[in-house]
Amino acid sequence: MSSDARTLTGDALVQALQDSRRHTLALVADLDDAQWQVPQRAGLNPLAWELAHIAWFAEFWILRGPHRADASGRLQAAQPFQHAGPDELLDSARLPHAQRWRVALPSRARVLGMLAAQLDACLAALPAEGDDAALYFHRLALFHEDMHGEALTWLRASLGYAAPPDARLGSVRSAGMCELPGGALLIGWPAYRLGFAFDNEQPARTVPLQRFRIDRAPVSAGAYARFVDAGGYAEAALWPAAAANWRARKQAQHPARWRRAGNGWETRWFDRWLPLQPAQPAIHLNAWESEAYARWAGRRLPSAAEWEHAARSGQIEWGRSVWEWTADAFQPYPGFQPGPYRDYSAPWFGDHRELRGGAFATQARLHDPVYRNFFLPDRTDLFTGFRTVEL
Ligand code: AVJ
Ligand code: FE
Repeated sequence: MSSDARTLTGDALVQALQDSRRHTLALVADLDDAQWQVPQRAGLNPLAWELAHIAWFAEFWILRGPHRADASGRLQAAQPFQHAGPDELLDSARLPHAQRWRVALPSRARVLGMLAAQLDACLAALPAEGDDAALYFHRLALFHEDMHGEALTWLRASLGYAAPPDARLGSVRSAGMCELPGGALLIGWPAYRLGFAFDNEQPARTVPLQRFRIDRAPVSAGAYARFVDAGGYAEAALWPAAAANWRARKQAQHPARWRRAGNGWETRWFDRWLPLQPAQPAIHLNAWESEAYARWAGRRLPSAAEWEHAARSGQIEWGRSVWEWTADAFQPYPGFQPGPYRDYSAPWFGDHRELRGGAFATQARLHDPVYRNFFLPDRTDLFTGFRTVEL
């Protein structure tokens, strides 16, 4: 099911592109003019910019090739834009984040027109039969739009807009831990696997793993509340180095979207405060909070390789509730070569942290045991949680 998405062709790929677009549009259709205005914040984009960028990205890669780097190293498309542009405005590499609030952006009606025209043109350009190389940019545009769909969902959550109708966090179903055997494990996208691969999944590599025991499900809100109630946020030993800086800077005493209510807690879910649901996965936690809990519990976060091994074994519950922080910095696999969209991975190696799995807001198409997500470790606005491994 999830791996099929990487091999979509023909009508199924058309339908996936249309499905991704319906989802994008549904995430903004109900917003009024005041909600359309997004305040300047690190994790957000103005809606007109983000939507026009989705259209620009697909047109740039699907319709405007070939691409090559100019003298300054910037990627240039051979063809001018017809539907969504200009590049200086809509290429995320060219327009710095803060500038997106300082430039003239197209009107809402104009943005919707760009999206419609771009999708028609891109679908018309889809080869009826094509190999992985011929379909590469349609698949890239699909996954890119899916990723921005998740960003639009976290925008709605961050700004306290109503939840999208299909947004449900659910409960963690499995309890306890499972044991995975050690050995030499093949991690990443092997050269023999057909379909679309992200550059950072390649080349596949063999990693030696010791046997380990890992939670069957992400850590629940109830379990995390025991840590908070035990004074975990005040225990300096649980927050070393960069974690201590973050905790001091934010004066954090509990997760960002929690507040006290009587003896217990309420958690923010889009436009409302709800009593904490102990069986739900803990969410909106950053890497420092995840590691502090693991230390307190006498555990650790899994390495990305351990997580991938566990996901492939079919023994763990993943991909429907929260992205999961791993213990690893986001780094290239040895022998990494950037893909045609060079800015997908390479600019973010080093200071970003690797996450695995997928959240309730992530299209199932993106779920794959080899998929690597990456964000700065201090983000609490994302749909992120974690699971632990026994020491
Ligand atoms: C892979 C989700 C980290 O949001 O920065 C969107 C996806 N890249 N447009 C991000 C992405 C370019 C990326 N993540
Ligand atoms: Fe993008």
